[in-house]
Amino acid sequence: LPPIVTTIAGAREAVTTARAQGASIGFVPTMGALHEGHAALVRSARAASRFVVVSVFVNPTQFGPKEDFAKYPRTLEADQRVCGDAGADLIFAPTVEEMYPTNAVTFVDVAQLGEGLCGASRPGHFRGVCTVVLKLFNIVRPDTAHFGAKDYQQARIITQMARDLNVPVVVRTEPTVREPDGLALSSRNRYLSADERAVAPRIYQALRTVQARARAAEIDAVRLASALHADLSAIPGARVDYASLVDAETLQPVTRLDRPAVAAVAVFLGGTRLIDNVLLAE
Ligand code: PAJ
Repeated sequence: LPPIVTTIAGAREAVTTARAQGASIGFVPTMGALHEGHAALVRSARAASRFVVVSVFVNPTQFGPKEDFAKYPRTLEADQRVCGDAGADLIFAPTVEEMYPTNAVTFVDVAQLGEGLCGASRPGHFRGVCTVVLKLFNIVRPDTAHFGAKDYQQARIITQMARDLNVPVVVRTEPTVREPDGLALSSRNRYLSADERAVAPRIYQALRTVQARARAAEIDAVRLASALHADLSAIPGARVDYASLVDAETLQPVTRLDRPAVAAVAVFLGGTRLIDNVLLAE
């Protein structure tokens, strides 16, 4: 099993040793409760770099006051097995006190990109994500860092942050891993009741319908977005947070599909908020 270090000094030391032996460093930041989606990121990191670090840290600064920070699943022993099976070399699992020892006053804000979609319904969320990811980048100093397309806005924002702040890392976005019925894997799927789980695949089905219509040369993005919203609203027990067609780069809403776009959604099933997206290539 890959060793778990809990201190920043310990993580730096292990990475420095690996680097001194000529290894390149691959990095997969996570909040634990690891599933096959995370494992796929670890395997991608393994393929790209010789020494793979996985961080497991439930980051308080990216949760809103009414969100699930306290009840977010914490399964470090199982996570260690997933990491080992997928080929990780080191797990960095710091405490909140280790990562946020004093009243820090510096935060990273990626303007515009962080304001729409999930940023609109989760104020401060991406500020917390960017701040912790930059801290983790500065601790691990990876050559490659691997993020999932399931959190498309997050991956786009981190890519932009690394570019804007000259972080010497290559940020990779890896494909979304899904259940056989299409539901995107998520640590939050475990909160779904049996009834909610049964209808959850309809989120991806609705996105596939948009993709099919876009491929069939429908270019009216406003019409596609309202059809998508209607399809999602028709799922029993669902409340649509957003259903948007946005430019793949700027994340601004598009009215015509005349450049690469993304259909991105967030849907509440009961108390569980699920997100998903598909690319709509030109
Ligand atoms: P977490 O939700 O644990 O996700 C960690 C990484 O796994 C993210 O890059 C996410 O996009 C990816 N991931 C999750 N489900 C996936 C799936 N079904 N297929 C492919 N990749 C998937 O995202 C976070 O943690 C945090 O915000 C973090 C970046 C660690 C900062 O705290």
